[in-house]
Formats: sequence, structure tokens, C-alpha cells
Amino acid sequence: ESCRLSESNLKNKNVVITAGGTREAIDPVRYIGNNSSGKMGYALAQAAAYAGAHVTLISANSHQPKPNGVKLVPVTTAKEMQTAVEAEFAKTDVVIMAAAVADYRPEETFDHKIKKDSAESLEKITLVKNPDILATLGQQKQNQFLVGFAAETTELEAFAQTKLKAKNADMVIANDVSQAGIGFNSDENAVVVISADEAKVVLPKAPKTVLAQKLIELIATRI
Ligand code: CTP
Ligand code: CA
Repeated sequence: ESCRLSESNLKNKNVVITAGGTREAIDPVRYIGNNSSGKMGYALAQAAAYAGAHVTLISANSHQPKPNGVKLVPVTTAKEMQTAVEAEFAKTDVVIMAAAVADYRPEETFDHKIKKDSAESLEKITLVKNPDILATLGQQKQNQFLVGFAAETTELEAFAQTKLKAKNADMVIANDVSQAGIGFNSDENAVVVISADEAKVVLPKAPKTVLAQKLIELIATRI
């Protein structure tokens, strides 16, 4: 272990990892959110810290225990997550966007709790698109290595390829969220890693902690 620790390319690198799922408020007690426990992002943060990296974990609404030796930055919304990532970006070597970012947020947030006796039906809640954090980083990047996730239910690799290009990322970790027992909220995952210039890497079903170590090792060899 100690031998590998001193050998990792990630030693003393600045790594930003996002985890969990953002929540976009409808009113003070309700939100639009995403299904994400944060387990994968937290496992990646722990593995990166063990590899000797300086890890900032930007965490949205996760109840996972804080990994050792990691700077934890709690956020709620996609915009807060973007602000937190942007604050670190200039001095960051690797960004891993493991968070499930809400694609849309309510156009307006009610100041007071919406009461059910005020109307028989809620006519509409208009949603507007959130900024795409990873795509924005892809436009700004200098030497940063950008890793995205792609949660897909169909055409896993094709959609992951499209996201890799569209967001100017260096690697996309694709997981099939239609498979039972893996992905969201599960302790296990199975992924296909796609990069621009390298062959794909298939990592079969394994505990997220084990997968996280393999993914961190893979990222370390690519930076
Ligand atoms: N992502 C992001 N900002 C967003 C939405 C997504 O940074 N507003 C990041 C995610 O953290 C992930 C990657 O982009 O690393 C892909 O997210 P995903 O939800 O799979 O793809 P989208 O681009 O949002 O497209 P869609 O949900 O329509 O498949
Ligand atoms: Ca999305």
C-alpha cells in the first residue's frame, strides 16, 4: 500500500470531486431533486485521498460519512455546486463530476410553503435549465483533466461518447442505471470508461469502494 501511495501520479495533485444530488427549491419545504446517495463520489474521494491527492469533495445532500483527509464543501443547488467548483478550478488538476446535477430548476421559488387549500390543482411549475457545470469547465479548461459520469438507460456507450465530445471532457464513466442492483443508491456499480484517445475499459460489477480505487488508478495513469 505505502509503496503504491508514493508512486501514484495523483500524489499532491489537487482533485475536486462532486457527489450526491442537487436540490432545487420549489418552496421552503419542497424541491426537485435527483436520486443519488453520493456513495460513488465519496468512495472516489476516499480513494483519491489514499493515493495522496489533496481532495475537495463538493457534496450535495449526501448522508455518507465524511472520508478521512478530505476537505468537504456542502452545497444544495446546482448553482451553488457550480460556484464551489469554479472557486477551485484554477488550481485544480483533476475534476470528477460524480454528482447527479438537476438538469432543471423551478423558475421561481415561493417564499412561503404552498398551501393545498389555496387551489384544487397546481397549474404549473415552470422549470428552467440549470447551467451544465462540466460543459462550462470543458470550455474553460487549461491543463485540467475532466472526468464526467453518464447515467444512461439505453445506448450506454453511444450516449457516453456524445457527452465526452459535447462537454470537452477527457474521460466519461458510463453506468447503466436500468440494471437492477447497481448504480443509484446501490452499494455496487458496473461501468464502462470512455476516453477520447484510449480504448474503452470495462469494469464489471463490484462494490463502489473497489471500483473507486480502480477508477482512481486509471485516472492516475492518464493524467
Ligand atoms: N452535469 C453537469 N451539470 C449539469 C448536468 C450534468 O456538470 N447541469 C454532469 C454530471 O455531473 C455528469 C455529466 O455531466 O458528470 C453527465 O450527466 P448526465 O445527467 O448523464 O448527462 P446530461 O448532460 O445532463 O444529459 P441527460 O441527462 O439529458 O442524459
Ligand atoms: Ca442530466
